[in-house]
Amino acid sequence: MSVLTRVRGDITAQRVDAVVNAANSSLLGGGGVDGAIHRAGGPEILAACRDLRAAHLGGGLPTGEAVATTAGRLPARWVIHTVGPVHSATQDRSALLTSCYRASLRIAEELGARTVAMPAVSTGVYGWPLEDAARLAVAAAREAAEGGAFDELRFVLFDERAYRAFDAVDADDA
Ligand code: AR6
Repeated sequence: MSVLTRVRGDITAQRVDAVVNAANSSLLGGGGVDGAIHRAGGPEILAACRDLRAAHLGGGLPTGEAVATTAGRLPARWVIHTVGPVHSATQDRSALLTSCYRASLRIAEELGARTVAMPAVSTGVYGWPLEDAARLAVAAAREAAEGGAFDELRFVLFDERAYRAFDAVDADDA
């Protein structure tokens, strides 16, 4: 079985070691994946985020970077929060989106997380076109998988359109 997998579903229900959150730089919650993770995981996650802000992230988490907290009541052990770039029609911010996956998976590896669930970062509120986001996400995850540190890197796509976009990247490369 390939290390990279994809499912259609809700990221909060995944039985994996670590779940990636599409957060914002405040780390204090929001809508979409972020809202779902905080709702399902409970207040422990927000408390851990507040501690991080107070300890060494006073200015917030920069775009493209990642940080881990407890996963509270989620089946996972850790939540890895990353901040995707807002899509821009005039500026190429692809490197920042790639960096979200790289940074998140570097932290997962450091924690010893062998199975990781990831959403399609930046493709909701932040407006990134799905096909392009899928291409960047799959390339970054493939590269991370090469080191052999992971048993499964699972993309969790919320709807059929997102699932198809990720599916198409694999099909193109086959
Ligand atoms: N499980 C899996 N995927 C989901 C779920 C879920 N429960 N809910 C939504 N998606 P978004 P962004 C999909 O907006 O674009 C927040 O307010 C969704 O369909 O969650 O990075 C943060 O606080 C889309 O394809 O993240 C930030 O302010 C993808 O997840 C901002 O939104 C990402 O959508 C981040 O925006």
